[in-house]
Amino acid sequence: MKPKVVISYGFRNEVIGQFKKRLSDIAEVIPLPEWMSSESLQEIRNAEVLVPLHEFVGEALLEHAPRLKAVSRFGVGYDRVDVEACTRRGVYVTYTPGILSHAVAELTLALMLCLSRRMMEADRYVRTKWAMNGKAMIPLGNDLQGKILGIIGLGRIGLEVARRARAFNMQVIYYDKLRRLEAEENLGVKYVSLKHLLKTSDFVSLHVPLTPETRHLISERELRMMKKTAYLINTSRGAVVDEKALCRALREGWIAGAGLDVFYEEPVPLDNPLLKMENVVLTPHMATHTVETRRLMVATVTEDIRRVLSGEPPLNLVPEQKGKKFHIQDKN
Ligand code: GLV
Repeated sequence: MKPKVVISYGFRNEVIGQFKKRLSDIAEVIPLPEWMSSESLQEIRNAEVLVPLHEFVGEALLEHAPRLKAVSRFGVGYDRVDVEACTRRGVYVTYTPGILSHAVAELTLALMLCLSRRMMEADRYVRTKWAMNGKAMIPLGNDLQGKILGIIGLGRIGLEVARRARAFNMQVIYYDKLRRLEAEENLGVKYVSLKHLLKTSDFVSLHVPLTPETRHLISERELRMMKKTAYLINTSRGAVVDEKALCRALREGWIAGAGLDVFYEEPVPLDNPLLKMENVVLTPHMATHTVETRRLMVATVTEDIRRVLSGEPPLNLVPEQKGKKFHIQDKN
């Protein structure tokens, strides 16, 4: 019997198909919905690898997975995997850093452009009013050139955003736990305090992982520090921002608008007040959803799964497990 790889049923069919194709010689790939349901848990009992999408992988699930060798995150964020619990159980946690940074950076710039050039309004205008008689009411936007972009978190993705913003002749300032001297030198980005960044930026873009320290990093106090003309861009994780405070900020004009790819609750419930606001551009957590990037992600994840199933350590371990080699005796 081939080892079982359980993959979230939530992935689009092409991705599931690509997993099956790439692993068909060594594993059985099983898409499962509702991982905590008793039917799914029966399969998970025999799983050697789990590939979650939105499923939380913690003790409650791991308890049901005695044969598990790896949890392979299809993406760079692993806030929904309890790494400590996995490490205790000798289960690798892998992810896909690097290969998706450009895609997230491109979406970040797209959100900035959508807001600054009022693209959503402009699109609606062409479809409804432009052909009517009378004065043209073409939306008047703002340049990106010359504006200040404040990047919070200048890691792999933040850096790619900085590069692109520099190509638009924006000034880039950043705040991070660590100084990035090389980026300061090569890209001319400037390190500032979080307060300074919030007070001076025309765009504030978030590129931090979701951790206990970054949860609600942007809440009422921070939003009130921002300029009334500034935009908040979030392509990281919804909970980095206090969404209630953000709604107030948008409604009451503390800031000009927001470009959001991530939310507290996903999919966003239809009664979320953000959906009714005009000064936001919303995308469905799709920063890595390009044909090229998703293919590369499948290749990276399946390569690591192949390694784990053949007894080698994976290449893309999360930093907390760097250098770890679990003695995976055959758990069969
Ligand atoms: C996307 O959200 C990712 O974690 O890569």
